Amino acid sequence: MCGIFAISGDSPKAGASVLKGLKKLEYRGYDSWGVCVRESKDGTVFIDKEIGKISTVRRNFPDGCEAIGHSRWATHGGVTKANAHPHQVGKVTLVHNGIFENYITHKKTLKTYKFLSETDTEVIAAMIDNFLHQGSTPDQAIRKAATQIEGRFAILVMVEGISGIYAARRGSPLIVGRGSNQTFVASDIPAFLEQTNVVNYLDDNEMVYVCGKNAQFSDLRTGDPVQKRNIEVPWKIEEAEKGEWSHFMIKEIFEQKETIARVLKQEDEKLLQAMKLLQESNGAYFIACGTAHKAAMAAEYFFADISGRKINVVPASEMPSFERFVNPKTAIIAVSQSGETADVLEILERSKKKGAKIIGLTNVLSSSIARMAHVHLSINAGPEKAVASTKAATAQMALLFLLAFTDVNKINIGRQILWATASSINDMLNPRYESWIRSVAERIVDHPNLFIIGRKSLYPMALESAIKIQEVSYIHAQGFAAGELKHGPIALIEKGTPCIVLGDDQETVSNATELKSRGAKIIGVSATKQDVFDEWLRVPDCNGAQAIASIIPVQILAYHLALLKGLDPDMPRNLAKSVTVK
Ligand code: G6P
Repeated sequence: MCGIFAISGDSPKAGASVLKGLKKLEYRGYDSWGVCVRESKDGTVFIDKEIGKISTVRRNFPDGCEAIGHSRWATHGGVTKANAHPHQVGKVTLVHNGIFENYITHKKTLKTYKFLSETDTEVIAAMIDNFLHQGSTPDQAIRKAATQIEGRFAILVMVEGISGIYAARRGSPLIVGRGSNQTFVASDIPAFLEQTNVVNYLDDNEMVYVCGKNAQFSDLRTGDPVQKRNIEVPWKIEEAEKGEWSHFMIKEIFEQKETIARVLKQEDEKLLQAMKLLQESNGAYFIACGTAHKAAMAAEYFFADISGRKINVVPASEMPSFERFVNPKTAIIAVSQSGETADVLEILERSKKKGAKIIGLTNVLSSSIARMAHVHLSINAGPEKAVASTKAATAQMALLFLLAFTDVNKINIGRQILWATASSINDMLNPRYESWIRSVAERIVDHPNLFIIGRKSLYPMALESAIKIQEVSYIHAQGFAAGELKHGPIALIEKGTPCIVLGDDQETVSNATELKSRGAKIIGVSATKQDVFDEWLRVPDCNGAQAIASIIPVQILAYHLALLKGLDPDMPRNLAKSVTVK
């Protein structure tokens, strides 16, 4: 939620470079943007900000070797130019990702300041400026302000008359990129990957001052210096770029040709460590949000079927009702692409304090969840930039499938099944398959409603299918457990209503027949073609891992429904990729 990016270096084109880097973070938020350059000629700050997506912006900035910028997903204050970052108060110019929960209390005490926006961010800038007036040095002022902020934040700060850029975090990600003559600070690595893959991860309650190629790290509370290791990230630029593809979403869907197989590289030792925590527990929960939650729901079936273990699946936002059951014998499996989702993080923080054991499955290795977990497993899908999660979801399911086999000492059997699944998905994903699905999309795009049903692990995939279609095509889509149809949802069926039926087992086919008798147009997603299907999207038979293959044609369908409606599937309205606020 919100991308922030700073450069301090020797090139006078820092403004243009920040704009370019921010475009690579646009998936984090895209309702407005802003860039601030410290001008070479006199050290004053130049700010340019606008509402709208940053991707199409072309700008000339004054020369300056330091710049900070922001791409916004509005939380406090509507989408207006005044609310766009950076915010300048007195000598301080600042961008912020996160939420300053107690900002109103502080705003009231800053009586000498005239606030120009409705944001919480402007209050942070005023607090820092106020401490500067009281005689604090910039880093003291930032520390004092930061200790008074309740909530999550990552901030980048420029102070008039002082070279260098200050950055601090608690709860929201910040990564420092080490170039040969310049230093970068960003919410995510793609912002600077073209320049360097050598990074330092800033931890919670840490601060960094960057000036040219130097970076000084310190503890945000005490000011004590902190030593950081330079880490080389294995990402390639092509992985974080669209390349020849028209959108990240379709690129990432096709990357599932490799990402599922990549999960198999997981070390046995790590899987066994995770399973040990689970086996020693007395009560386990999957905690996740959105698509990751649907992957966890599928895993609930995998564990039940494969290892006979019952794991409760709770969306992180609903977990507070059950937290009193968390104790030192509880194991929590947190599933998250970004590893930064605020609802998940909060549950983990509180559960860890109660002694629960945390197993984290994330795609982003440096994420807060990855670092907080007792055992971290990487889903290793490579950067996922489209807001709609695709390859991360199937990699999460593949890893959880493997974990269920680990639970019964049958990792190799799990690997064999997944290997066969990955290879048949590799065959399935080809341009002919995509164009067939596009033709199906053309035949259903004009219907305002769409329903999806599935049974067992395909039930969560029905829910996930609905999310995919809703979020990128804005068609009203709803998923149901196939057996629940006759308890209400069937009343929604009218002549021609498109219904996606996941699976070809006898009971689901009977449910499809019930739908068809009420006029529904049946789109079957299955390994075998059934008479009841009006359209058929073939998927391979995956021997228990059917959920992984079955969601893929629906991802493609959702993508083409969006294109047919003239929408940008990479940037759906109102959504953000990484939801770092509650
Ligand atoms: C947002 C994204 C979804 C994602 C969910 C959870 O809503 O748009 O695609 O599934 O957050 O994110 P996480 O990073 O925790 O998997």
